[in-house]
Amino acid sequence: MTGILIAFASREGQTRKICNHIAARLTSAGCQVQVLDLVAGQPLPLIEHFDGAIVAGSVHRGRMDQALTSFLMCHAPALGKIPSAYLCVSLSAASVKRDARAAIDEITQQMLHDVGWHPDETRHVAGAVDPAALGLLERCAMHAVTNLHGIEIEHEDRTELTDWAAIDRFTETFIARVNGTDASNESQNAVKQAGE
Ligand SMILES: Cc1cc2nc3c(=O)[nH]c(=O)nc-3n(C[C@H](O)[C@H](O)[C@H](O)COP(=O)(O)O)c2cc1C
Repeated sequence: MTGILIAFASREGQTRKICNHIAARLTSAGCQVQVLDLVAGQPLPLIEHFDGAIVAGSVHRGRMDQALTSFLMCHAPALGKIPSAYLCVSLSAASVKRDARAAIDEITQQMLHDVGWHPDETRHVAGAVDPAALGLLERCAMHAVTNLHGIEIEHEDRTELTDWAAIDRFTETFIARVNGTDASNESQNAVKQAGE
């Protein structure tokens, strides 16, 4: 049975939701999946025991979570030996501005360079915002991001920007790559915006 590790760092829960969704799809496709919450400090499994790995993390104030970068720094060599993908969850991914999307990709590529990991695929995924669940300072920071990127959100309601169909397409491609049946022309180190 194909073993897949999904490791994630999530602050408000959207990256967790995305990872659980992918895990359910992979499980119903016959994979054995382990989902690892990096922020919760769950015991780390041996990466060498898996056939493929997906790592996902959200962006806050232009940075990835420390738990995520620490994990990658420790495990980049092992991750480099199996098919792998990185999902960067942010609001910038839904930005109407091309240069904002380019900027989040630059931050992502710099982080991956710094930790020494070169996933086969890096994908930008639009996240979600829930103003009512945030403190005053975080709400201001979040509104600054939505204003900057021209993203319209409901004033107090939770707004989800994640493109679930694109997540499902990613999952299908990932399984095919791990199983060696990927017939698409996607190049190695492909960088994609969710929805493309
Ligand atoms: C305080 C705060 C700061 C944020 N900063 C950024 C940012 O700098 N760039 C960005 O694209 N998105 C930013 N976001 C949006 C988050 O990346 C988005 O809400 C994501 O879905 C969070 O994922 P999580 O729930 O898994 O933590 C910010 C959100 C909050 C609440």
